[in-house]
Amino acid sequence: MGVYSPCKSFFQGIKLATIINGKEISQQIRGEIANTVKTITDTGAPPPGLAVIIVGDSKASQVYVSAKKKACEQAGFYSLEIILPAETTQAQLLQKIDDLNNDAKIHGILIQLPLPSHINESAILEAISTDKDVDCFNPKNFGYLNLGADCLQPCTPSGALELLKRYQIPIEGKNALVVGRSNIVGKPMATLLTRENATVTIAHSRTKNLPELCKNADIIVAAIGKPEFIKGAWIKENCVVLDVGTNSVNDPTSPKGYKLVGDVEYEEAAKRASFITPVPGGVGPMTIAMLLSNTLKAREKLLNNN
Ligand code: GUN
Repeated sequence: MGVYSPCKSFFQGIKLATIINGKEISQQIRGEIANTVKTITDTGAPPPGLAVIIVGDSKASQVYVSAKKKACEQAGFYSLEIILPAETTQAQLLQKIDDLNNDAKIHGILIQLPLPSHINESAILEAISTDKDVDCFNPKNFGYLNLGADCLQPCTPSGALELLKRYQIPIEGKNALVVGRSNIVGKPMATLLTRENATVTIAHSRTKNLPELCKNADIIVAAIGKPEFIKGAWIKENCVVLDVGTNSVNDPTSPKGYKLVGDVEYEEAAKRASFITPVPGGVGPMTIAMLLSNTLKAREKLLNNN
């Protein structure tokens, strides 16, 4: 009551957003998937199988791929990690994909991007069976997604959407702003939010009135790949902020000499937002959880159709 009531915003003038814990939610989902897989394998049925192909020796790609492999093992999946030399020809890679398309133990195929420049990325992505395309990178699946069909959905955008759902954040009728128009995140994110009946705006590097668009947004998904590009002062009071950016910036105070920051100026945005994802530990960990979820779904669909 009165002056003694514990009103943080009154005394400190600061109301901080609820931090969306993507690390915890992703662990929860991975636990749920592991339980389902155990139920399947306890009956003697084969587990979901995921094949990941990496061409070349990019350190970053190898780190991603070994994280995916570890997640598969923890969830009880059958996992294949195929590392091909940088000189692999397009024909050899297409042959590998064909083998995996016809391998009954494999339900999901992921080609780690980027590919070496002598390989035509579109030709490769189109070769992945739509039923096994757990990244949803085959243009046919991208089309199905836009048609609102029941199809596999791309991992990072569906992970961001899952965070909204698990935190029971309403989407329908909200003004959602997606900042970034990449094929991997921005475009499919806008599609998924439209499918959830949000009113969606896509902004990008050439957008002229970004601060104004941000001030009108109930939900912002930042996926532009520029450190702290979206300023806290642009965020509307009680906006929900999902930050997909993972940018490495110099930090002499860190033992590693760098730190990871998102596309949003986090500290300032958290003073205005109702919910916000941190970087790291927000949207990032959801990608692998959704990859496992997609592989499990692909397995069910493949077995039911055969
Ligand atoms: N490279 C960077 N992100 C991704 C992703 O989500 N999937 C694949 N296949 N490659 C990537």
